[in-house]
Amino acid sequence: MSVITTIEDLRVLAQRRVPRMFYDYADSGSWTESTYRANEADFQKIKLRQRVAVNMENRSTAVSMVGQAAAMPVAIAPTGLTGMQHADGEILAARAAEKFGVPFTLSTMSICSIEDIAAHTSAPFWFQLYVMKDRGFIERLIDRAKAARCSALMLTLDLQILGQRHKDLKNGLSAPPKLTVANILNMMTKPRWCLGMAGTQRRQFGNIVGHVHGVDNMGSLAEWTAKQFDPALSWADVEWIKKRWGGKLILKGIQDLEDAKLAVDSGADALIVSNHGGRQLDGAQSSIEALPSIAAAVGSQIEVWMDGGIRSGQDVLKAWALGARGTLIGRSFLYGLGAMGEPGVTKALEIIHRELDLTMAFCGHTQLQTVNRNILLPGTYPS
Ligand code: GLV
Repeated sequence: MSVITTIEDLRVLAQRRVPRMFYDYADSGSWTESTYRANEADFQKIKLRQRVAVNMENRSTAVSMVGQAAAMPVAIAPTGLTGMQHADGEILAARAAEKFGVPFTLSTMSICSIEDIAAHTSAPFWFQLYVMKDRGFIERLIDRAKAARCSALMLTLDLQILGQRHKDLKNGLSAPPKLTVANILNMMTKPRWCLGMAGTQRRQFGNIVGHVHGVDNMGSLAEWTAKQFDPALSWADVEWIKKRWGGKLILKGIQDLEDAKLAVDSGADALIVSNHGGRQLDGAQSSIEALPSIAAAVGSQIEVWMDGGIRSGQDVLKAWALGARGTLIGRSFLYGLGAMGEPGVTKALEIIHRELDLTMAFCGHTQLQTVNRNILLPGTYPS
């Protein structure tokens, strides 16, 4: 590929360069993948209104998310196994985010550890927490995030149990990959990836292996989730975690208005309208469809963000216009990472920023703070 100009270009390159099981892990949803597809497709239905002869000088996409400055309302989402898309993937993505001026979120289920990210970056990052049955381990994770000076904790509420993703089962997803004939043959076609992996020690779940008594090799995400994640997670746990953490708290995975109200009651700083990238409850509505009513009902009491389906800066602008004061990108940065490592993540951020900036200008605005749903064509957006 010669010139990369879109997230789709990065996806195509990532598909070529990343072993099938890890590419598939990122690029899939649960069951029929209808919600996964709807996340993107519903953005496409929303039409923008072009305005002309408006002074477009001195534009800015700068915002703040939970009180922290960001170059645009985009943060890197926590994604599992990121260090399997590319060697040391979480470190590379965190560095790209820091240089670009957007927040980076590290997943509990990352390959590089909390300490790895702290050692290789200087901007504070966010830590995403999954709640496991072993509360001692959760306490230690929270303490490690504090010690690493993480500036917000992102608690995921929609994954007490794991949605079924057919491809992961068929591919026998694990980290590190099992050396079966099929996997070896597939990896032989990905020399860059293999070279990178040969040059790093980080090939397991870095936040977990060596930190939980008796766990020195955990392999499969599905197995670990089924055994360790707490299916009894409740709002009382949210309260306990908020107290234990004591800093900014972001609740991820809200799709329903009733839950959004409970999120406000919890005293959290932000909520993320999310269906986990269509990876959990298939058949649920898209995030952009769920967003407007939640933003209208609780947006004045809590920062409302969204994720799911963002593949361009136009999507970011549409989400902003419908009330999201921040968005998260998962696959969009993973494709960049799988395609080209750190420069690929930078490329993804540049592409999205440019699309956001130009589209905002075409719609007649020079800063996001004046943008609202008036930039959207009535009848084309959810309310
Ligand atoms: C984990 O968060 C996953 O969606 O696989």
